[in-house]
Amino acid sequence: MPDLDAVVQEIAAEMAQRSDRGEVAHYIPELARVDPGQFGIAVVGTDGAAAVAGDGDLPFSIQSISKVFTLTLALGMIGDRLWRRVGREPSGNPFNSIVQLERERGVPRNPFINAGAIAVTDVIVSGHQPRESLGEILRFMQFLSRDATVTIDAAVAASEKRTGFRNTALANYMRSFGVTENPVDFTLGVYFHHCAIAMSCRQLATAGLFLAHGGRDPETGFSVVSAERARRINALMLTCGHYDGSGEFAYRVGLPGKSGVGGGILAVAPGRASIAVWAPGLDAAGNSHLGRIALERLARRMGWSIF
Ligand code: DON
Repeated sequence: MPDLDAVVQEIAAEMAQRSDRGEVAHYIPELARVDPGQFGIAVVGTDGAAAVAGDGDLPFSIQSISKVFTLTLALGMIGDRLWRRVGREPSGNPFNSIVQLERERGVPRNPFINAGAIAVTDVIVSGHQPRESLGEILRFMQFLSRDATVTIDAAVAASEKRTGFRNTALANYMRSFGVTENPVDFTLGVYFHHCAIAMSCRQLATAGLFLAHGGRDPETGFSVVSAERARRINALMLTCGHYDGSGEFAYRVGLPGKSGVGGGILAVAPGRASIAVWAPGLDAAGNSHLGRIALERLARRMGWSIF
């Protein structure tokens, strides 16, 4: 078995050297200012081992990675009734695309494209004040990462709110079909803020551990979701977690993964480890360029592909 710590250190050293770093997200002004020279990685094993390298302890904007956790919360609230409002198929379109919504009666293809995640957030908002829903999501992240210091970057949330015309269009469009039920600005406010949660690779990898361990925290044994639900969330991450780059990610890495436009990726090696990487530069599909390459290296060296 290769030495995990050595592999992680080698990957971080290689990624620090590379000049092909992709492009930071420009459509959210606050993210456009992030230094693309950074790279972080953290691997937390189901056996408790942790390997962290590079900028693995620096907080970054988790963006769409938060959608894995809002999906988990919404399923906990209304179970399989969620699937009346959102599908489970890859979209084959960019994460912020609107075209399928008209043809498919306002029901988004999956919970990870922006429209789908907004529909999921709407479920969490129902019956609560936006502040309470956001508190629920943040406390869930603090609990899973075993770190009460996890917080929301208010500047990123405000920056996205100011420029979020496309998301506003998606939300209004779904509301017109009755797919969402709450005031559009309530739902969007919570959505923008949960995307703006800031976490380090170490915190994020810890938060994802339940997905690598049959739904349970391997340290405390606490059950977050059933083993069946964990399997299904992993299946959605594999098929839809990288939008129209999901096929390429499965082909190259072979692990369920969820990307964010802040440059993070959370990947799950079932039964073995939860992994978070962060490199702010993105590829054409809006997924971390070096993050994907780093995960490809890690999965190959450790023999962790699920295939
Ligand atoms: O709604 C948005 O556009 C962002 N808050 C999140 C998009 C995102 O992270 C796409 N992922 N690669």
